[in-house]
Order: sequence, then C-alpha cells, then structure tokens
Amino acid sequence: MAHASDLISDNIEAYLKEHEQKDLLRFITCGSVDDGKSTLIGRLLHDSKMIYEDQLAAITQASKTSGTTGEEVDLALLVDGLQSEREQGITIDVAYRFFSTDKRKFIIADTPGHEQYTRNMATGASTASLAIILIDARYGVQTQTRRHSFIADLLGIQHLVVAINKMDLVDFAEQRFHEIVAEYQQVAEKLKARDIRFVPISALKGDNVVNQSEAMPWYDGPALLELLEGVEISRDQNLTDLRLPVQYVNRPNLDFRGYCGTLAAGILRPGQAIQVLPSGKRSTVARIVTQDGDLEVAYPGQAITVTLEDEIDISRGDWLVAETDEVPLANSFEADIVWMHETPMEPGKLYDLKLATRDAAGKVTAIDYQVDVNTLEHRHADDLDLNAIARCHVELTAPVPIDDYRSSPGTGSFIIIDRLTNVTVGAGMIHQLLDSELPYEFREHDSKANVVWNRTSVTQAMREQLNGHEGKCVWFTGLSGAGKSSLANALEVELNRRGYHTMLLDGDNVRHGLCKDLGMSEEDRAENIRRVGEVARLFAEAGIIVITAFISPFRKDRDAARALFGEGNFIEVHVDAPLDVCEERDPKGLYQKAREGKIKDFTGISSPYEVPLKAEVALKSAEYTQQELVAQLVKRVL
Ligand code: ADX
Repeated sequence: MAHASDLISDNIEAYLKEHEQKDLLRFITCGSVDDGKSTLIGRLLHDSKMIYEDQLAAITQASKTSGTTGEEVDLALLVDGLQSEREQGITIDVAYRFFSTDKRKFIIADTPGHEQYTRNMATGASTASLAIILIDARYGVQTQTRRHSFIADLLGIQHLVVAINKMDLVDFAEQRFHEIVAEYQQVAEKLKARDIRFVPISALKGDNVVNQSEAMPWYDGPALLELLEGVEISRDQNLTDLRLPVQYVNRPNLDFRGYCGTLAAGILRPGQAIQVLPSGKRSTVARIVTQDGDLEVAYPGQAITVTLEDEIDISRGDWLVAETDEVPLANSFEADIVWMHETPMEPGKLYDLKLATRDAAGKVTAIDYQVDVNTLEHRHADDLDLNAIARCHVELTAPVPIDDYRSSPGTGSFIIIDRLTNVTVGAGMIHQLLDSELPYEFREHDSKANVVWNRTSVTQAMREQLNGHEGKCVWFTGLSGAGKSSLANALEVELNRRGYHTMLLDGDNVRHGLCKDLGMSEEDRAENIRRVGEVARLFAEAGIIVITAFISPFRKDRDAARALFGEGNFIEVHVDAPLDVCEERDPKGLYQKAREGKIKDFTGISSPYEVPLKAEVALKSAEYTQQELVAQLVKRVL
C-alpha cells in the first residue's frame, strides 16, 4: 500500500503504535446518485494514498470499459464495489470504509442517496460525529439535501460539512458557491447542529478535497480533508453525567464479581461513588478492570469491567450512574422513531424494546406527528411505513431510567424488535423535554385532583399548515386613549387583506361577555388579563394570528400572558402616547370623569401604568400616521 508514512517500511512497530494512538473520526457521506459521492470517497482514499496498488491497476483497467470519466481514472469504481450498484449506478447499502492520515483515523459510512433508504442512512449516521452533505453546484439545494440534513440532525450529528461539488462544471464561480451557501443557510435555521461549514470542491478533478484548489484562489478556507482532520469532536462527548449500562455480570469464581459494559457517558475513576438504577442502591467503584490491566480512568466508548466495594444485587440492563446524578425513572416517554421494516408500525401493538442493555416490552400508544423528511412538515399518521420518521409516545410495562438522546446518545436510544420474528423493526431516540420547552399543557399545572390532560391528534403545527401560517399573539398595551383599539383594528384589516387568519380581542368588548363579572381593581384586572391570555393562547393553537388590545397596566400580568407562548410568538406592542395627550383626546370622556373622582382606579390618574421594559415594538402613536404605524407593525408580525 502506498501509504504516506515512511515508518511503514522503516519501523513497522513504531508505525503501528503511532497509528493506534491517533484519534478516530467517524463520518457519513450523504448525497444522491449523481452528486459524485462515490467519486469523492474514491478521491479521499486515492489522494490520501489508501489504495492498494493492485486495486488502482484494476480500476484503471475498469475505467476504460465501464467508467464514465473519459481518459481519467473513474475513482467511483473503487467505491461502487457491489455488482448491482455498478449496473444501476446507485449505492444500495451502508458500506464502511477506513482510511487514515498522519493526524487521524477515519471510518466513512457511505450511505445511499436513494429516497427509500432513510433506514440505511439512519444506521450509518447513528455512530457518526460528522456528516458530509454533498450538493451538485449546478443544481444547488435539493429536496434530498434537506432530507439528509434533517436525518443527520435528528441523529444528533453536531458537525456538518456542506461540500459543494462539481465546481468545475460551473467554471469554479465564486458567486455560485455563495448563492448555494445562502440557500443552505435557510435549511440550517431549522437544524440544531451549530457547526456547519462550506467547502467548494471538485471531487473529479481533486480540487479542495485533499489538496488546495488552484482553480479557486478566491476560497481561502481549508480543503475538505483538512476540515475532517481538524474538527474538534472530543467536546461532543458527555463528560458531565456518568452512565455505565451493565452488559453482563462476570462471576468467574466466588472471589470476583465484575460488571461489564461500555461507558456511555462520563469519566470513571476508582473511588467514584455510584448508585445503581433502577434499584437506587449505592456503593463505590473499587477497580476498573480491562484486558490490558487495571485503569486509573475510563472515558466514554471504552469497554470496561467494574468491581464495587460492596456486594449488591446488580443485573444486566441496570445502569451505574454517579451517586449525585438525578435520572428520572419512567414507564412512558416521547421519542423520535425511525421505522425500518416493510410491515408498518402499529400503535398499541406490543414490541420488545432494547434500551441500552436493558430488554423491555412496550408499545407506541400515540403518534404525535410524522415528519415529511422532504419538506420537514409535520402531518398526522395512523401507522408508520418503512422509512417513516415520527414523534411518538411510548409506554413500557415497567419503569426504567430515562435519558435524553441529545445529552447521552448511548443511553437515550433504543431499538424496537418484533416479538414473533425477532427482527429489528425500528430505532428510537428519546426526546426528554427540557423545562423550557414543556408544552403549554404541562406548564404550571395546578394538578387539580382528578384532572388529566387529554392528548389530541391534530396539533397546532397541523392547523398552521392548513392555514398556511403560524399562530401567534400580537399584544397591544398602553394607556386608555393611546390608540390601541384603532391600531389593532387597522392591523387586523391589513392582515386580513393579505389572507391571514386573524382574531381581535378588544378590552371593552371582552368586558361585555367573557369578563363581564370583572371590575377595575388590581385583582380583577389580573384575572381579566389571565383569561384573555388563555383565550389568545387557544386562538394561536388554532393557527390564528390573535391581536389583543387591553390596557394591561401591570407587568407581571403581561409577562404571565407571554409565558403561555413560545419564543417569538408573543409580540408585545407598547402603544406609547403621553398621558397629557391621552387626556387631551379623552375619546370616551373617562379622564374627565376620573379627574372629577367619579371613576376610581383609573389608569394614569389613580392607578399606575407600568411601562413595558422588553416590548418587541414601541410605537409613538402621537407622532406617526396610522398608515405608517401599521406598516411598521406588519414588518414585525409577519
Ligand atoms: S385592563 O386594565 O383590565 O387591561 P381593559 O383594557 O380591559 O383594562 O379595559 C379598559 C377599558 O375600560 C378602557 O378602555 C376604558 O374605556 C374602560 N374603563 C372603565 N373604567 C376604567 C378604569 N378605572 N381604568 C381604566 N379604564 C377603564
């Protein structure tokens, strides 16, 4: 093999030692049949000198008969090893390939670009740290670009490299590269991955793959391989929590009892205080035993055997976690499920579930929504077909410790096995809700006796899809006479004219019905605003833009209404007119009455108005025309 290192011929022992200590990056390549994926992989192997000389001779020969590259060696032939692939020109299964450079070892999971192969891509991506998303420079972002990015993201891949390929076919044009980067940024907005980089390449000609391109002097970033060598993955691991799922209990004789497993998260040292889940029993780690002797410290991914100071009852499937770790035990959770079998998943049917090393039985009790992987839209589903991805509610027959996939992939995922055929039919990633993203119905629940929350099948997202826009709340606040009602009205007219579904809740009107039992005391106003907030929330859930016009003078009441909405879906508009201007206008003659003492608790006169501190919009209503104000508002709302 024509490997770059001289040590191979000079000192093979030293080479092997050096090689063993290099860190390993697992990555996947995603792209469609024609994006040039196989050529790219071939190019990486070829230019990093990982091809056996006889292989090279063979493909040079094959290029002449079945290659598609004319005079040049068709590097795709190196990768498209399977006969059927070569005939159909498509890649049909996950293939793992290995190569290394002086800096790192790499394993590539080559995953198919074909639409129906979500399953394979999910399999390839499940252990990868990075994904290369290939885009053909001629066509830009395609449906499958979105699909691949979404699946990679769903599986928790934190590093994406968007390789814009075939730059040679667009004359290595800088402008085209930037156009595609801008297009992809829109996809990126919907992803959790934060580390996304772009590189213009020509896999066929070798530009910016291993070697810097001379044809694209305008690109001064790293070539693809340099990116792969440099990406920082050690920080991706969860070193905060401690998780050792017990694979089996090793008892060769009465003097030794060891618990074997792969450390899924955390750093483990002898002396660590632990608890066993689900039993909650406590002890201390005595030794960390491996084939090569005892360890002083173990890291995630290492297969170890642990002995404890105390004899406690531990079986396969239990977790050893830090004594201070708080892990919920539950027999139901939310999960994103990828269905991998021709026989559809049936809600209510009992399956075997394997969570880390634990065998459990359980069922999907509800499908919250299925994700259309091409458009990323949510839709209703009664069952899940092959390659479907859906957010589901899972129930087990007994409680188990639960981790979130994003914080601990090793313990936050599971596979689903058919009980009759013993075939793996699905894979799931547990989605444990963070406090900040708890749905409305679970927040600050009074837990009034005997009240449950009934799940409904049609979600806000589905209603929004039907309406063609999001539901949200535009909350007007300000003194009486500041112009809230007329502005709110003008805004609704404008939105309605543009085809948006709207509803207007106006202070005076609501006090004729829903709130007719309420007066103007501080408590009554709080209750008024609470009711209006809840109603507004319901309208938003119906996928409607709800506009409210209430004095809502107290900050805490407005903030309580805001808390019912998601980030960005509550737009507080302070209609800001000086008190003397409002009093001068006095459209209903109320200020005069208040001054005469005929109305008590009148806002601005005998009751305070607390100016918003974090309103999204502040409108100086006395200084602009209504038309100008509405134009300003529309920009903020849509
Ligand atoms: S809020 O304080 O609870 O938000 P809301 O907007 O519903 O007030 O109602 C205010 C309307 O009630 C005003 O537009 C005004 O016409 C009328 N009103 C009657 N009494 C009062 C009062 N004491 N203070 C303010 N507005 C009053």
